[in-house]
Amino acid sequence: MQLYSSRHVLVDQARIVLSNNDLGCSTKPAPQLYPHQWNWDSAFIAIGLAHVNELRAQTEIRTLLKAQWFNGMIPHIVFNPEASDYHPGPEYWKTAIPGAPSTIRTSGITQPPILAHAALEVYRNSDHKQAARLFLADIYADLLLQTEFLLSARDPLQQGLAFICHPWESGMDNATNWDKPLNNFNLNFQPRFMRRDNQKIAGSQRPSDDEYRRYSYLVQRYAMEQWDQAKIYSLGLFNIQSILFNVLHLKSMQALAEIGRIIGQDCHKIKDQIAATKEAIKTTLWNADLGRYHDLDLTTEAPIISENLSQFLPLFAGIPKQEQAELLITKLASPDFWPESGWGICSQSRGSAKFDAQRYWRGPVWINMNWMIIKGLELYGRADLARRLAHETLQLVEQNGFYEYFNPETGQGLGSDSFSWTAALVIDLITSGYE
Ligand code: SER
Repeated sequence: MQLYSSRHVLVDQARIVLSNNDLGCSTKPAPQLYPHQWNWDSAFIAIGLAHVNELRAQTEIRTLLKAQWFNGMIPHIVFNPEASDYHPGPEYWKTAIPGAPSTIRTSGITQPPILAHAALEVYRNSDHKQAARLFLADIYADLLLQTEFLLSARDPLQQGLAFICHPWESGMDNATNWDKPLNNFNLNFQPRFMRRDNQKIAGSQRPSDDEYRRYSYLVQRYAMEQWDQAKIYSLGLFNIQSILFNVLHLKSMQALAEIGRIIGQDCHKIKDQIAATKEAIKTTLWNADLGRYHDLDLTTEAPIISENLSQFLPLFAGIPKQEQAELLITKLASPDFWPESGWGICSQSRGSAKFDAQRYWRGPVWINMNWMIIKGLELYGRADLARRLAHETLQLVEQNGFYEYFNPETGQGLGSDSFSWTAALVIDLITSGYE
């Protein structure tokens, strides 16, 4: 990595965060709070690691893929056998079943599918293209299998959109988007749960006990069905076509088509699917009257209109037409989402009654979201705003530390310190030339 930026101190600090969280062949998201490997965390981590040690970045992705289920699902957590201080652990998930990897313990659900995009970024930033091409060729079939899982088990009605079955699959666990659907089902039993997260981090920065009760119920209920995907769908407890999840599903299919081209595979099927998913997002998840994207509850068929930042993420995959993009960008750049304090972008609008500057996905700023929005702004010709957001993102971390999320009004770091994707994406922004 050649770096002439004045930000080299920040890059050095970020490298230390990643190296301290390194488990050998994977990276834990944070030292205490998240002691295992997480799916989309590892994708973002690989994007940053690619600038530091490209082989290690490839290993991060290969390790995650070793935990892939036979049906193609890439689990949201791959458990580290050395770590026990996390709830819910492998016993709780009851995933020692046929179809799950036999020697590696995992959770039973997935997470936003940004892995193929990460693999392509690792290739693009590689100094050793031939070796990187071999890496892509090695993992192509696994990535394709993951896509096929989302296109079949998670799209039973063949609508071009994948559904998620748990708020943890959304990546934005306690986003206000899930308030209603999470209360739409009855608990037929009271699940036991033993939270560890709020012993390590102030409860005011984490999801509530009531949310955890419902998260735990879903896990126990699905475990009773032995994680059978058709049964999970037919239970209809929390079947949501999440906008963020589908944007990343599309982004990964676009990456897969490009990977296929690089390694000389015929990708016409995936290209057809890209067109179908793009069209489905543009029609089913777009409300023309409101001029915005939203999630959809598959069980009630009701759109979920929440003032959460996921409505802007279609910019990242080039989905909106230019005039729609301009609508989104005007709203994004308003002080409700991008406060004058300069610590944007809020995960929930400050104008909404549900905004909470401290609580996880209900207001705080997240570096991976800023990173995707920066890329989206670039895609739509708004390099001015992209540069401003990147600058503010780097300032936020430089002044407050490598936190998991940040208070958008004060910049205070929240959740865990030494958070891996914050470090990885800081490296990526700086090496891409942002200051
Ligand atoms: N993000 C969740 C946690 O807090 C689960 O993936 O542990």
